[in-house]
Amino acid sequence: MKKAMHLTPQQIVAELDEYIIGQKAAKRSVAIALRNRWRRMNADPEIREEIVPNNILMIGPTGVGKTEIARRLAKLAMAPFIKVEASKFTEVGYVGRDVESMVRDLTEFGITMVKTEMQERVKGKAAEQAQERILDILIPPLNSKGLGFGNATKRANTEAEPSSVTQQGTPPSSDEELNQRTRERFREKLNNGELDDRTIEVEVKKSTSPTMQVFGPGGMEEMGINLQEMLGNLSGKGKTTKRKMTVAEARDILVDEEAEKLINHDDAIQEALERVQKQGIIFIDEIDKIAVSSAGSKGGPDVSRQGVQRDLLPIVEGSTVNTKYGLVKTDHILFIGSGAFHVAKPSDLIPELQGRFPIRVELNSLSEGDFYNILSQPKNALTKQYEAMLASEGVHISFTDEAVKELARIAAEVNEQVENIGARRLHTIMSSLFDELLFAVPDDIKEGNITIDKDYVNQQLESLVKDKDLSQYIL
Ligand SMILES: Nc1ncnc2c1ncn2[C@@H]1O[C@H](COP(=O)(O)OP(=O)(O)OP(=O)(O)O)[C@@H](O)[C@H]1O
Ligand SMILES: [Mg+2]
Repeated sequence: MKKAMHLTPQQIVAELDEYIIGQKAAKRSVAIALRNRWRRMNADPEIREEIVPNNILMIGPTGVGKTEIARRLAKLAMAPFIKVEASKFTEVGYVGRDVESMVRDLTEFGITMVKTEMQERVKGKAAEQAQERILDILIPPLNSKGLGFGNATKRANTEAEPSSVTQQGTPPSSDEELNQRTRERFREKLNNGELDDRTIEVEVKKSTSPTMQVFGPGGMEEMGINLQEMLGNLSGKGKTTKRKMTVAEARDILVDEEAEKLINHDDAIQEALERVQKQGIIFIDEIDKIAVSSAGSKGGPDVSRQGVQRDLLPIVEGSTVNTKYGLVKTDHILFIGSGAFHVAKPSDLIPELQGRFPIRVELNSLSEGDFYNILSQPKNALTKQYEAMLASEGVHISFTDEAVKELARIAAEVNEQVENIGARRLHTIMSSLFDELLFAVPDDIKEGNITIDKDYVNQQLESLVKDKDLSQYIL
């Protein structure tokens, strides 16, 4: 995928086209929204702060690509992205997740994203340092007896290597030199992977205790954050522990550890905060579930739904949220709301919130023809996924055009007869289609070429499709 910031709206649509069939209007809207951010950042600073993102409301039945479009967009934009379910939130003051937590989650994502990128950049150096640490374990440096445990001495040791090489053949003049030579020999073996299976004892950072969600009263999640840190310290965060593992395992762990040490965490946080605020995308799924349908709304959950909407308002409008990394302004975060809006209508959202999602796009339900395209065209098409999976076992499958057409037809038929779950139906159908084959390989079928034709499709699926009870459960 191309780097996104410079993509024009039409290029963005073209990129999305590689994964998503149809839904032109939705692709167009998100492409404009993404480009608008670039436009904003390149606009005259005087007015830059004034330009607000145009949040989008995607409306359409289940399984037609709403989430998929947003997800692909975020990948394309290399922007911090999270997807939340509107129905999971509760009003401030009640037990449960308050809406501000979505901004905290997004920030968390941004931090991980930036750190991963930074660590990727120092991978080479980290690998070198990890190598030295493993060498130290295999062949402890001589002067490790005393207090001179520091890295500097170790490094000095290894830098002495050329001289020892030039003296090859002559008897070792000192323990030091002998040690040095052995190290070199082991270094070579390490590089060749000869020692990968050897077990060594490594001092590694204690894995951080699993994060705990603590809800304070009044939705004060920051309290939870502090508590978490305290608990973390109690359980010995930052301490090390000795563990036995193979050299290969140790390498993976130590490279990560060294990479972590090499990056500047403050820089990472600054960059992440910046990126979250300027480029973050929050996808709010099932936003229709917090709308109060005009038909028959009487107290109960409706009241709290409206409460969630009211809480959501300032965040979407632009406010400042306190996260454990610092304050995050939400003014320029792009929000994409999504829902089927079968029962409730966008007009059932509180008016202020409606106004905050000015762009409405409808996604169409998918036809048999779309299914055919979805099965064959996208880069990650299901047919390609199964081909790749089986190819890993040496079994090469190919689909006839008729077979794909038949699969599309069956998907459309089952959707009509049982329940319309959109393209998700293709997943269930394909897994039924391949059930037998995936079990037979490699025990019964070792390798070879298999053609999936229309007959095979019918043979595998016909009984399921015919029997309505069965298809309700299986397809
Ligand atoms: N237009 C499409 N093109 C390609 N694949 C699609 C399309 N629509 C749906 N899919 C496939 O179907 C799956 C479900 O789609 P998605 O998650 O986008 O549904 P949704 O519209 O968000 O539904 P829901 O309202 O239930 O959340 C995706 O994993 C994707 O692979
Ligand atoms: Mg979805």
